[in-house]
Amino acid sequence: MGARIIAVLGSPRLSGNTAKLLDEAIRGAVDAGCEVEKIEVTTLDFHACREIFFCREQEACAMKDDMTDIYRKFRDIDGVIVASPVMTMGIPGRLKSFMDRFQVYFMAKYMRGKPMVQEEKRKSRLGLYLAISGMNVPYVFDGAKLTVQAFFTIIDVKYWGDLLIRDMDTIQDLSTRPELLGEAYRKGNEMGRLLQETIT
Ligand SMILES: Cc1cc2nc3c(=O)[nH]c(=O)nc-3n(C[C@H](O)[C@H](O)[C@H](O)COP(=O)(O)O)c2cc1C
Repeated sequence: MGARIIAVLGSPRLSGNTAKLLDEAIRGAVDAGCEVEKIEVTTLDFHACREIFFCREQEACAMKDDMTDIYRKFRDIDGVIVASPVMTMGIPGRLKSFMDRFQVYFMAKYMRGKPMVQEEKRKSRLGLYLAISGMNVPYVFDGAKLTVQAFFTIIDVKYWGDLLIRDMDTIQDLSTRPELLGEAYRKGNEMGRLLQETIT
């Protein structure tokens, strides 16, 4: 059995530029021997966190929706890949709501001192962040990166690396830039190979 990775698509465009980048990273990880499940966040049925704080005492959320199964899946994975466009200088709202719902993991780890992820997995889980932006300014990924780093910390994943591509307003279609898609493949493949080493 290969290392298990969840690949999270944060863009509403399921065949857009973010999706193209993510698909290449997935291909790289699969070629490294990993098992990858892709989750398209905008197709999930869930609500934003309502701060009910049921999760302060329970390993669960009071709201029963598609996140229930997602919580279970995230316990067992070895790695995660998150891909998102920049929207309003951060990550898309739907993806942010998805990450906010991991307050269940936050409470378990920081309030009760009982992380939802097993001790041995906590040491080796790796995360890759892929992002694109329309603008070409140096600080365009700052907000998005902080959010993704916080998410990875909450779910006990080390921020292993990223691929941040600016200037999509000029590039328009990533298919015209095979070297950037190749970089996504290489990152997915490299992280996949590292994860394969940790599980064997
Ligand atoms: C609602 C919205 C907000 C955006 N906000 C920003 C922004 O603040 N900064 C930026 O550089 N690009 C911004 N963009 C541009 C996207 O990052 C860019 O078009 C990206 O290529 C879209 O990815 P996709 O092909 O997966 O849809 C925004 C796009 C949308 C739709």
